[in-house]
Amino acid sequence: MATERTFAMVKPDGVKRNLVGAILARIEAKGYRIVGLKQMVIPREMAERHYGEHQGKPFFDGLVSFITGGPVVAMVLEGENAITGWRGMMGATNPKDAAPGTIRGDFATTIDENVAHGSDAPATAEREIGIFFGEGDLLD
Ligand code: RTP
Ligand code: MG
Repeated sequence: MATERTFAMVKPDGVKRNLVGAILARIEAKGYRIVGLKQMVIPREMAERHYGEHQGKPFFDGLVSFITGGPVVAMVLEGENAITGWRGMMGATNPKDAAPGTIRGDFATTIDENVAHGSDAPATAEREIGIFFGEGDLLD
């Protein structure tokens, strides 16, 4: 199994609710290496690019407003199987289906404010990392 990098984010609801520390603690305890980390307010154009696959869907405008509505903590995580591993730690998209012990299962109640983001595939990870981080921003 090769080492992978994935794009991870604490969404505005998670930052507002002071969950950054709890989420970082889970990432560190799991053993992923945090090779990029920054707090930022996502510009609208960047959010539309990040969620480009959802353009045209009924929830798109609300999703972009939500994700640009306050600071997020954006990260690149590195480790064995990090892409599906981090998705597993987050749990199902809709918190009502997310198992206890997952981030969404433990910290969220609604699909619109589900606390964390993670890339869903290797090509997505590469694309999303490129949107949020430049080469020099990441540890070797
Ligand atoms: P994310 O991209 O935010 O990590 O979430 P995800 O992969 O688990 O889910 P995705 O299908 O990519 O959807 C992105 C975000 O859009 C909202 N959503 N709402 N009302 C709906 O049917 C619906 N479907 C998706 C969610 O907030 C989801 O995290
Ligand atoms: Mg997604």
